[in-house]
Amino acid sequence: MAQFLNRLDYGRTEDSSLLKFYCIFQNSESGNIGTIQNMDIIVRNETPEDYKAIEEILCAAFPSDAESKVVNALRANGHATISLVAVGDGRILGHILFSPVHTHPPTPQKGLGLAPMAVHADFRSHGIGSQLIRAGLQACHDLQYDYCVVLGSPKYYGRFGFEKASTFNLQNEYGVDDEFMVTRFTTLPLGGLVKYSPEFAFFSV
Ligand SMILES: CC(C)(COP(=O)(O)OP(=O)(O)OC[C@H]1O[C@@H](n2cnc3c(N)ncnc32)[C@H](O)[C@@H]1OP(=O)(O)O)[C@@H](O)C(=O)NCCC(=O)NCCS
Repeated sequence: MAQFLNRLDYGRTEDSSLLKFYCIFQNSESGNIGTIQNMDIIVRNETPEDYKAIEEILCAAFPSDAESKVVNALRANGHATISLVAVGDGRILGHILFSPVHTHPPTPQKGLGLAPMAVHADFRSHGIGSQLIRAGLQACHDLQYDYCVVLGSPKYYGRFGFEKASTFNLQNEYGVDDEFMVTRFTTLPLGGLVKYSPEFAFFSV
């Protein structure tokens, strides 16, 4: 698996509701952009030209097109806060999205939810998913969010600093405990029932 990563190049413009930033991870040993099977992998912000390829990756990775519909709806509603693609050899190989979450009762702390994420089946287990997560969490931090939640495998997401959310008094609507996790970017107190953006409920993801 690719070594991580000692620098994130990060730029953004203010002229769009979508963040316009790009990320280039550098391999900590070689100083080059992260490579996979001799292919350079760049993680950058999505552009409209990427939408079709992202849709194809999502529809192939999940049993239905629900995730793709959620992503389209999040974009349309301005809720695709961070949406990154992994590009290798000019192809979109993976995608990750972060959208706003809120708690009931509300708190001033700003949160994002990581979902969905997918990597092209032919390119899995080579660290692309990890690169997307690390780039996304760096962007969350840079954008001054307080926390990020995810629903998934503790074994996998634990690698990136996610911990059981109930430890920090965060509840979920999915009837799980260990699988609902949070990583914090500040030490401000958290608490309450976490609600994802309504697009997720609408498409039953
Ligand atoms: C999850 C996913 C994005 C990971 O992408 P990836 O590029 O293969 O990720 P990485 O290479 O960084 O990590 C691969 C590791 O994660 C593990 N992993 C992947 N999915 C996992 C899961 N659901 N539960 C536990 N471990 C998982 C793999 O076994 C592998 O382990 P290893 O490093 O010990 O070999 C990819 O498997 C995928 O697209 N899956 C289908 C869609 C999906 O389930 N998305 C997540 C929910 S939104």
